[in-house]
Amino acid sequence: MPSLEIHPLSDLRDEAARLLGERFARQRATEPLLPDIDEFAPYLPDEEGVVATRGGAAVAYLAGTMRGDIATVGFAGCAASEPEALRDLYAVLAEQWDASRFSVAVPASDEALIDPWFRMAFGCQFMWAVRETARETDAGVHLRTDAGVHLRRIRPSTPDDLEAVAEFDEILSMLQVRSPSYSGMVVPTRDGFRGEWTDLWDEPETYTLYVAEQDDRVVGHVLLYRRPEGDLRVPENNIDLAQAATLDDVRGSGVGVALTHYALRWAHDEGFRSMTADWRSVNLLSSRFWPRRGFRPQYLRLYRAVP
Ligand SMILES: CC(C)(COP(=O)(O)OP(=O)(O)OC[C@H]1O[C@@H](n2cnc3c(N)ncnc32)[C@H](O)[C@@H]1OP(=O)(O)O)[C@@H](O)C(=O)NCCC(=O)NCCS
Repeated sequence: MPSLEIHPLSDLRDEAARLLGERFARQRATEPLLPDIDEFAPYLPDEEGVVATRGGAAVAYLAGTMRGDIATVGFAGCAASEPEALRDLYAVLAEQWDASRFSVAVPASDEALIDPWFRMAFGCQFMWAVRETARETDAGVHLRTDAGVHLRRIRPSTPDDLEAVAEFDEILSMLQVRSPSYSGMVVPTRDGFRGEWTDLWDEPETYTLYVAEQDDRVVGHVLLYRRPEGDLRVPENNIDLAQAATLDDVRGSGVGVALTHYALRWAHDEGFRSMTADWRSVNLLSSRFWPRRGFRPQYLRLYRAVP
């Protein structure tokens, strides 16, 4: 068998685009809620990259760049007809990056493409997912719990909810920092969270926020975001479920499910065909909750820290 040769991506962009097109066709055969793309060359990263050839034919490419202190490979950053060659390409690029943390996005359904990364000490850290919007079951206004019947309503959020939504974001951040998520993020002060959310209601064309009230208390929220298209993930006519959280003391009583059904129905009625969501696979709550709500992984973010 001819030996593997490694070239700069800039020398073989057409060949890499062909590999990417083949990879994406396999993805779409498994998950139709991905963008409809004919021409792949424009999606190839304009970043450091390498292509492996064997006997003159391209068999794999890998491209990415440093984002902060993490060498990052995005949705269009790798494809292969000979996945094992990705390990050779990683060996070359990792040395150029001189990084100790690596993050690689791979199609969730492509086991052959995931396997070489697994054998390079990568593990799953994060998932990008999608599902159809739907009218679903009724979100309900009453909730029966062991403690009795609680009046619940879901309503559009207003700036008066700032304190509540800042608290939800704080809850999520604290959860992500703790075991077993270990996000490594610095949790802002409550003032910092307020600052981040204060303009949200000024951008109704970008964000839509609903809150759940129970017994006159805001107990949960769901944030919808018009995530831009233009990558290999977001399909046409999609809305993103950017964040959801509930207070600790109502979890497991149906508030999160009601908010999700409400959001799916609202999106359906607004004419959105699909809803994307993402979560850290190391977050025990969200990584179980979203798949149970019908979200199907599109991509995995694989992560490695050295040593
Ligand atoms: C993820 C999260 C929003 C879910 O909210 P929640 O309020 O616990 O959700 P629910 O109580 O509706 O559902 C949780 C489970 O209880 C079940 N449940 C219990 N009582 C219920 C009831 N009376 N009615 C409906 N569902 C009920 C649900 O079916 C669900 O189980 P399942 O997923 O196995 O089907 C919540 O765990 C949370 O805030 N996590 C921290 C923040 C976070 O990680 N957010 C996601 C990142 S964007």
